Amino acid sequence: MKVFVTGACGFIGSNLIEYLFKKNIKVVAYTYYNSHNSIGLLKYCDKKIINKIKIISGDIRDFKRTKSAMKGCDSVIHLAALIGIPYSYHSPESYIETNVNGTYNVLESSKDLGLKKIILTSTSEVYGSAKYTPIDENHPLNPQSPYAATKISADSLGLSFYYSYNLPITILRPFNTFGPKQSMRAVIPTIISQYLKNKNNIKIGNTHTIRDLTYVEDTSRAFYLALKSKKNNILGETINLGTSYGIKISEILKIIEKEKRTKLNIIKDEIRVRSKNSEVLKLISNNKKAQKLLGWKPILSGKNDFKKGLMKTLQWYQKNSFSYDVSKYII
Ligand SMILES: NC(=O)c1ccc[n+]([C@@H]2O[C@H](COP(=O)([O-])OP(=O)(O)OC[C@H]3O[C@@H](n4cnc5c(N)ncnc54)[C@H](O)[C@@H]3O)[C@@H](O)[C@H]2O)c1
Repeated sequence: MKVFVTGACGFIGSNLIEYLFKKNIKVVAYTYYNSHNSIGLLKYCDKKIINKIKIISGDIRDFKRTKSAMKGCDSVIHLAALIGIPYSYHSPESYIETNVNGTYNVLESSKDLGLKKIILTSTSEVYGSAKYTPIDENHPLNPQSPYAATKISADSLGLSFYYSYNLPITILRPFNTFGPKQSMRAVIPTIISQYLKNKNNIKIGNTHTIRDLTYVEDTSRAFYLALKSKKNNILGETINLGTSYGIKISEILKIIEKEKRTKLNIIKDEIRVRSKNSEVLKLISNNKKAQKLLGWKPILSGKNDFKKGLMKTLQWYQKNSFSYDVSKYII
């Protein structure tokens, strides 16, 4: 088995590469081309891993480059995307090009090359604010941001390739994921980095939203299980990946206060607050389908486990001096 991983230079991608390496899966890591030869977050992986895997840089929007990079692989895990919600308000066109056209390029290349397994990555943002919780895969879709709209489009395109061409596609739909190496734009690194840099003052958007946060190693295991599965009943299916435990952002801040025996000064950052109709208030997953089809259940779930994951993440940022000035990374 040789798997082509797009978005390998990103948060989930770089953690997944480490996971697949431990499982002896051969990997081709597709990283986003840049002129300074950066392999993105893969640089935080063990040198042993980097020396062993094949890394090809390119652009998911470039059909020819992407298809030629995929040659020789029998499966693909497609993670590459533009993911920031605030930036999607400003630049929806780039989200269409990357998330929709980029997914089309992966699908068309997979079809041409006869790949045996195609795993696409969706997001819980496609559901919008929950009409009911826990959210199962039958929950209506509601694109409350251009980002969510492009992910719904990419998912639909994937399913259409399954129905039209019998392409062996599975869509995994992670709820919010956290852990080492995540970008400072995500809520947990935003909190952690400010805590590490400036112990008291935490600038943050809405703290009343509720999220179902999965530790990235659990998310990686779900991708691995889907990749290894020989069952046909996962094909043409969309599968939620979440813990089924929801936590308010304000509670995360309280956990840090308690664990670190400190008092945080929470400052509302209006730039980080989404507009009223775009804000997704509550996302809590129903993960029964993942249990049934993949045999997957997160190892870290529930408040105590979340705390363990949070502290592991904090230690990682501390050790790796991930010290961005978050005020400079607003959109
Ligand atoms: N992190 C989460 O909480 C979360 C939750 C649900 C779904 N997802 C999905 O998981 C996937 C990975 O997300 P992530 O959190 O690792 O994000 P990330 O931004 O860290 O990773 C995405 C990667 O895609 C790459 N990329 C962007 N445009 C590209 C292009 N034109 N060509 C090639 N590569 C390009 C980026 O360089 C980046 O490394 C995405 O599809 C996202 O929608 C993430």
